[in-house]
Amino acid sequence: MTTPPTPDSASAIKAHRLRAGMVGMGMIFDETYRPFFEGVHERPLYQANFGVCQVALTAVASRTGKRAEAYRDAIRGRIGPWESFREPRSIEQLLASGVDFVCVATPDDRHFSAAKAAIEAGKHVLVEKPSVLSLLELDELDRLAREREVLAKVVYHKLLDPDHKKLRTLVADGDLLHVNNGYCTLLEPKSISGSQFAEWIRGRNPGTYVAVHYIKLIDFTFGGRLKSVQCTGQRGIVGPVDGPTWDSTQLRMIYQYADAREAAFDIHTSWVTPDNFPGYVEQEVQFRFDNGVWNGHSRKRGVECTIEGRTPIERKITMNNHYNGTFLEPWGERSQRGYGIEVLERFVREIAEVEFGGPGSERDQRLATARGLAYNDLSADRQTVAVVQAMEAILAKHAAGTPNCVVNVNGEHGGLVLYAPGCAAPEILYSGRV
Ligand SMILES: NC(=O)c1ccc[n+]([C@@H]2O[C@H](COP(=O)([O-])OP(=O)(O)OC[C@H]3O[C@@H](n4cnc5c(N)ncnc54)[C@H](O)[C@@H]3O)[C@@H](O)[C@H]2O)c1
Repeated sequence: MTTPPTPDSASAIKAHRLRAGMVGMGMIFDETYRPFFEGVHERPLYQANFGVCQVALTAVASRTGKRAEAYRDAIRGRIGPWESFREPRSIEQLLASGVDFVCVATPDDRHFSAAKAAIEAGKHVLVEKPSVLSLLELDELDRLAREREVLAKVVYHKLLDPDHKKLRTLVADGDLLHVNNGYCTLLEPKSISGSQFAEWIRGRNPGTYVAVHYIKLIDFTFGGRLKSVQCTGQRGIVGPVDGPTWDSTQLRMIYQYADAREAAFDIHTSWVTPDNFPGYVEQEVQFRFDNGVWNGHSRKRGVECTIEGRTPIERKITMNNHYNGTFLEPWGERSQRGYGIEVLERFVREIAEVEFGGPGSERDQRLATARGLAYNDLSADRQTVAVVQAMEAILAKHAAGTPNCVVNVNGEHGGLVLYAPGCAAPEILYSGRV
């Protein structure tokens, strides 16, 4: 019989420690990273192969430092001490402060520079979606991560949504046979484009911001080779009707599978949905298979709640309690949990496994295993980034007066090649193979 641990022997258990640096302290920090760091501060990670691993947010970098200071005022001891660095040179200072991994949650056109600096400094990196905006950037980060022997990963939390996991399970098990086509929509409220993102919205589009969730879902769930990308959109609410800033976009991707059959997917997104819409975001998908149809509606999973004077502005009528909800647990504790937080914990577990999950002599193998996870490794993000790069190029051409371009993938002229109507000369966006 073993003796139960005494308080002294329990506290003597050796714990590993990982120090986190956070770049970007905006909306997504508040929704998912903040509850993750607060939760793991209270309950360190444990896994049989690495034991106990404490995870501490020790440094943050942001443009002005204002939200970081507001957070410091608000936390009242819920996490340990941390330093805040602001522009200029905020990331450089964060890296010099001694962190083990870095999470990048800046606006999407600033992911690359922050991730590159962190990887070059030998830190494991987690980047918000979309990882980067071009394949050349992706190649560079992947190359550096291999050279520095660190993990470079991207957050696509919708892959951890139980509904999407079920879809993938049915496909993997052969219950749903051969996807033929499908559509997805994700509509964000006007407050996102009008106030939340006003600082960086110029020249941006809601497709890169949110269609990317579904690009990845389709790519990861159904596999196949991307063949072509088309996109159009509307302007005039967020910016001028002839400007580079988009209210809504409609993206079409064509994939081909090993048996030579094709599938087409349409993804419609917007960030100008009225703010009094009953849910935070409208998310709907339909996929049609040889032998079935999958219909998913994240806003209609079952709950509608009206509170006089509060819904649908202060509180929403439909809520996603799976992504990231605040709860009073049956045992009396307050918690914040969901797949948006779970995905961050998974990443940190992957680092802990690499660093502490066995003998140092086997670190390479553990690193290779973690890199082999296609759901989040940057090396597996090629087709998703290819669609994003193609979509951005098509919208830029449209804004410059040439709508209706198409981008073909891995054709005779290169990996990513744009064709404009009435113009014989192809424009090569990426010459390597996607
Ligand atoms: N996973 C999701 O569902 C989800 C949801 C929202 C946002 N995001 C992603 O997270 C990222 C950030 O989005 P957000 O909603 O938090 O944006 P936000 O505008 O609310 O916050 C951006 C943050 O980045 C900081 N920042 C900007 N430029 C910087 C620089 N040069 N150096 C250091 N810090 C800088 C700003 O100070 C701010 O703290 C985007 O890539 C977005 O696509 C993901």
